[in-house]
Amino acid sequence: MRLLLVAYPGAGKGTQAVKLAAHYGIAHLSSGALLRAEVAHGTRIGRVAADYLKRGDLVPDDVVLEMLSVPVLEAVRNGGYVLDGFPRTLRQAEEAYSLAQQVEGIELQAVVHLRVSPDELRHRLRVRANREGRSDDSDDVILHRFKVFDTETEPLLDFYAQRGLLIDINGEQPVQKVFTDITAAIDDLGADRRPEVGQQDP
Ligand code: AP5
Repeated sequence: MRLLLVAYPGAGKGTQAVKLAAHYGIAHLSSGALLRAEVAHGTRIGRVAADYLKRGDLVPDDVVLEMLSVPVLEAVRNGGYVLDGFPRTLRQAEEAYSLAQQVEGIELQAVVHLRVSPDELRHRLRVRANREGRSDDSDDVILHRFKVFDTETEPLLDFYAQRGLLIDINGEQPVQKVFTDITAAIDDLGADRRPEVGQQDP
């Protein structure tokens, strides 16, 4: 199964990605978590990414594409992926789409959009800031990340809707209800796109 989660910061992409990866037996690839690990390890990519992450700006497309192309191909060989936070710009989506034209069996099967109100998003991120102290969860950076989503990531929803891939889910419900809504929507997909739980892609 090959899935992408697209949603505002705090909407629950990471939370649902962990559950979906376990449910379908596929890899969870979080671009944000991978970038934070690169920063923590002081790698070349981490040194480039650090200031972007701190400000809540997007890391340059080329850096993200370089970081993720090998893990995505590896995940495909091992049964699939749930992408959390990548692609996140039209350029990233177009590059991924054009790669999928060249390499059989890596294209997305569904894109899940989690819909959550701004008040609830702010509440969740403030709670997380108190609990975990993530450096980009301060009030001003949260606001900036929302704006970045509006300009850079929101256009992806049309991009994927036009390709018949978009599934819209009410993300403002208990975690388990969001999860069952997502899996039910995936079960409703056409037979050619529906995953078989436990069965690996060739
Ligand atoms: P990233 O790590 O992707 O952060 P984000 O998109 O801002 O998303 P969050 O992790 O804040 O939220 P989430 O939607 O995953 O929600 P979560 O499940 O954690 O990116 C960080 C940075 O990396 C970016 O700003 C950018 O700099 C860089 N970056 C990443 N990808 C990039 C890319 N492709 N290109 C360029 N730059 C990139 O939940 C949030 C909280 O809510 C948690 O505490 C959780 O417990 C709680 N919660 C979740 N679901 C529910 C629920 N249903 N009810 C109540 N609480 C809930």
